[in-house]
Amino acid sequence: MNVNGRPMRTIWLAENERTVEIIDQRRLPHELVLARLATLDDAAAAIRDMAVRGAPLIGATAAYGMALAMAGDPSDAGIAHAVDVLGKTRPTAVNLHWALEAVRRILAPLAPRRRHDAALTRAAEIAEEDVAINRALGAHGVKPIVEAQRRKGGGRVDILTHCNAGWLATVDWGTALAPIYRAHDDGIALHVWVDETRPRNQGASLTAWELGQHGVPHTVIADNAGGYLMRQGMVDLVITGTDRTAANGDVANKIGTYLKALAAYDNDVPFYVALPSPTIDWTLADGDGIPIEQRDPREVTHIAGWAESGERTEVRLTPAGSAAGNYAFDVTPARLVTGLVTERGICAASRDGLLGLFPERRNRGAA
Ligand code: MRU
Repeated sequence: MNVNGRPMRTIWLAENERTVEIIDQRRLPHELVLARLATLDDAAAAIRDMAVRGAPLIGATAAYGMALAMAGDPSDAGIAHAVDVLGKTRPTAVNLHWALEAVRRILAPLAPRRRHDAALTRAAEIAEEDVAINRALGAHGVKPIVEAQRRKGGGRVDILTHCNAGWLATVDWGTALAPIYRAHDDGIALHVWVDETRPRNQGASLTAWELGQHGVPHTVIADNAGGYLMRQGMVDLVITGTDRTAANGDVANKIGTYLKALAAYDNDVPFYVALPSPTIDWTLADGDGIPIEQRDPREVTHIAGWAESGERTEVRLTPAGSAAGNYAFDVTPARLVTGLVTERGICAASRDGLLGLFPERRNRGAA
C-alpha cells in the first residue's frame, strides 16, 4: 500500500540480499523508521518485541528468520535451533508455526550449503503468497460491504474494526482491511470506526495511520464505544482479523474482539472475520485449545505516546501498588460469526463451511 503516495510493504529482502528490512511498527504513527534484521536473534526479537506484529507478518518474518539463521548455521542442529527460537516468540498466531514448518520442510532434505538460498527463496514465496491471498480476501470481502449498502438503501457504509488487521499486519493489503481498501478503491462510500485497541493501541496508532495514508474516512473510538454505536444503528458491519481459527470456525483475535461480536449479535449487525488459510489451525477441534498470550502488565499500567516536544514518552496510568493483567487475545465462538472471508470465498464459520472451501483437508489430521 502507499506511504506518502509511494508503494511500500512491511518486510523485504535488502539490496545486499543478506539482510531483511522491516518497518519498525513501534514508532508509528509518529515516525516511519526502518530496521534491519541480520541474524536469527534479530528476527526473533522483532517478533517478540512487536516491531513486527499481526499474524501473517509474524509468519513472513519467521520465514525470513529461518533464512538468516541458515546463513549462520545451516546444519540440522541449526534448523532445529532456529525453529525452536522463533517458535517461542509469540504463542497465539498459528501462522508462525505454519511458516516455520513450510521452510523446515524445504530445508530438511537439502545439503547444508544449499539451505541459505533455499530458505531465502521460500521466505520470498511466502511473502508473495501472502500478498496474493490478501488481495483475494479483498475481492471476496467486498461483497458483504456491497450487501450492507444495499440493505440500508444506499449511502455510506459504516464499518467497525478492531486492532490492526491492515497491511501493517501482513506483507501487504491486510486481512480485515483488504475488503475495505478494495471497496474504497471501487468507489463505495464508506467510513471506518477504529477501535483504539488497548493496551497497545494498534487501532489508534496503526489502523488509523494506514487508513489515513490511503484516504479512507475513519474515526478512532474508545474500545468501549462499539456497543453504544451499534445500538444507535451507526454500525452496518464489523470486520476483524484473526490470529488463529480453529477447525470449527472459532476465532482467536485481539482482546476485546469477543465483546464486539456479542454486541454485534445482540444488535443484528453482521460480524465477519477475514483470514488467510495459513491462519486456520486444522489440528484444533475448537477454540478452547488456542493458547492465549499474556504480555507484560506494564502495557496496561503504562501508556506510551509522543510528547509535544516530539519525543516518545511513557506515563503510568494506575496506582503503583495495583496489580494488572494483560491478556492479549480472546476467542469468539463461531456461532457469533456471520461469515469467514478467505482467499477462496466466504463460508459459514463452521467445520462444514471451512471444509467446503478447503476440501483437501477432509480426512486429514494435522496441518
Ligand atoms: O498483538 P498483535 O498486534 O500481533 O495482534 C494482531 C491482531 O490481533 C490482528 O487482528 C490479527 O493478527 C489478525 S489480522 C492480520
